[in-house]
Order: sequence, then structure tokens, then C-alpha cells
Amino acid sequence: MIVDVVTIFPQMIEPALAEGVIGRARAKGLVDVKARDLRDYTSDKHRVVDDVAFGGGPGMVMKPEPIFRAVEEIDRERGRDAGKPEGETTARAVVLMTPQGRQFSQAEAVRFSRMERLIVLCGRYEGVDERVAETLVTDEISIGDYVLTGGELPALVVIDAVVRLVPGVVGDKESVANDSFAEDAGLLDFPHYTRPADFRGLKVPDVLLSGHHKEIERWRREQQRLRTEKRRPDLLGRK
Ligand code: ADE
Repeated sequence: MIVDVVTIFPQMIEPALAEGVIGRARAKGLVDVKARDLRDYTSDKHRVVDDVAFGGGPGMVMKPEPIFRAVEEIDRERGRDAGKPEGETTARAVVLMTPQGRQFSQAEAVRFSRMERLIVLCGRYEGVDERVAETLVTDEISIGDYVLTGGELPALVVIDAVVRLVPGVVGDKESVANDSFAEDAGLLDFPHYTRPADFRGLKVPDVLLSGHHKEIERWRREQQRLRTEKRRPDLLGRK
């Protein structure tokens, strides 16, 4: 999978994706992630990426030209078939991170993980010129009902959730299949414990020390159900 992130703060993106599971996936060549400085796609001396809003009002709006140029150059650089529609093996999405987008979910992560390429646009200021959203962007995505100072942290959230689903990135197939919110489970995870069995008087549930695998399995399923009922009852009605 190829991911290009367009941002005025590439240094926020690069180091965060150099560590851990995603860092290893990049080193193994399973995913090619590049942070692109939006200012590199400007054509004026001062590398200006924003301007005042038509109609007035506070705050600046991100100009369309550099963003269009960035996407067009990335498509050219990444090769032919760049714009093929979803469903074909060369599908690519242009994802705009914005609080106005539809809410990101595991199902969206699965859909993006099947794409060959993603271009992720990070908004700043009051937002992005609407003509970008209308004509260039295939998906407007929010990571939740709160407003951040820009799309960089949301982009990292989306990329992390998507890349770990790319085959080979997470070693043990089980651990992706058993995720909370995995499409087939739809339940929260059960509680996990490690040694010591007694930590400052806090005991691990006996069943987990029993060696009875059937009992352990039953207990875990029960815990998933109880937790989901208590913490996220909205998930139970979803399927
Ligand atoms: N930019 C600012 N806040 C955001 C959010 N919650 N999701 C996506 N992009 C954003």
C-alpha cells in the first residue's frame, strides 16, 4: 500500500510513523508512507498556502491551487491507473481530514486497507476551499466530535488503523481478527492479565489460572458481553 500525506507540517507525520508496528511495516516494504510538504506545491516566493475567506469572517482558508497541484503531481509520480475507481485493484482514495466529515470507524479502516493508494489531506486554519472537497476528495473523514488544530493527528489515527490491517503488517493473524469492532465480533475486548497472579493483593480471576481452556473461553466471551452491555450498549444493536 502507498500512502501520501499532504500537510504543512510534514515533521509531525514522519517521526510518528517511524516507530513500532507501522515503522516495521515500512522497513519491510509492506507500506510506503510519504509526508509531502504542501508548500512545495506553491508557485510564489513566499510559498503561501492560505488566503482570506470570500464573504468575510475570521480566519484563513486553504487555497485550492497548491492542493490540486499536490494531488496531480502525486498521481503522476505514483504512476498510471492513479484514478481508477474503488473495486479495482488500483483503487485510490483522496481523504480529507475534517471535523465536517463522516465519522471514522473500523469498517472505514477495512475499506481503506483494501485500496492500493491513499492520499491524505490535512486541513488547517478555518478549513479548505470547498472546491477541493467537491472535486478532488473522495472521502471527508472526521475522527470524532471534537475540534483539533489541524488534520495531522487525525491523519495519523487513520493511517495507523488502516496500515495495521494490510496483510503481513500484524504478525499474528488472530490479533487482527479478534479486535474489538472487528466486523465479525462487534464486541469490546475481554480483560487481560499477566504475572504476578497476586499484585499487591489484587488477584487475577481464578478461572484464568485453572488451565481449563473451555472455561477460560466461556469466561472471556461472557466478559466481552458484560463489558459491551455496560460500556457500549450501542454496539449490541448494530448487527
Ligand atoms: N481536523 C480538526 N479536527 C478534526 C477531527 N475531529 N477529525 C478530523 N480532522 C480534524
